[in-house]
Amino acid sequence: MADATKVAEREEQKVTMVDIYIMGKRYKVPEGLTIMTALEYCGYRLIRGCGCRAAFCGACGTVYNFKNDPVLRYALACQKLVEQDMYLTQIPFFPAAKPSYDLEKMEPTGEQLLKIYPELVTCFGCNNCTKSCPQELEVMEFMSAAIRGDLKEVTIKSFDCLMCGLCAARCPQGLVPYNIALLCRRLHGRYLVPRSKHLDERIAEIEAGEFDVEIEELQKMSLEELKRRFDERPILKE
Ligand code: FES
Repeated sequence: MADATKVAEREEQKVTMVDIYIMGKRYKVPEGLTIMTALEYCGYRLIRGCGCRAAFCGACGTVYNFKNDPVLRYALACQKLVEQDMYLTQIPFFPAAKPSYDLEKMEPTGEQLLKIYPELVTCFGCNNCTKSCPQELEVMEFMSAAIRGDLKEVTIKSFDCLMCGLCAARCPQGLVPYNIALLCRRLHGRYLVPRSKHLDERIAEIEAGEFDVEIEELQKMSLEELKRRFDERPILKE
């Protein structure tokens, strides 16, 4: 037993520990943890600001800098690894402009966009939005495209946006690039992309009940069985 304890101690000694600061308090955490797992290692229970843990949901936007280096940096807490002397500040959700609109009553134009987001024209190109994007998207470029009414360009350039909100947090004009880009993508998808004949046909088949038996079968399956069926899809074997 004593030997086992010594082995465990020796193993522990091999782990390099780094100092991080959470809301100003210093903690020692093992190197190689993400910011999110380091927070949990330090005893924080994450209920908010934590979702998919895989760089998809955008819930974990984090601002950090370093001792003696005040330049702010931005990251997703579930992806970024801790570094020595990192000072961490989690960004809780705060309300950003999110007007209501009815997509069915809109037109896919720049004028329409400005009716919903008139503040868009106040962008003066400071580029803070781009610098704050943990996805390294060219946010200011797609905001410029939005001002020009180029919905396709916004759609292409903002496609990987996770809606983490860091760009809006840093905009001195109070713009919300992620919501503006979302409207552009919606307008582009609704009005400018050709309709998919195949999709229309498949929806009609579903509505006619052609897949009711299979859907019912799936609904009754256990999680394990569903996973197995998912992994065995023919498309994965091609
Ligand atoms: S938890 Fe979902 S992106 Fe980080």
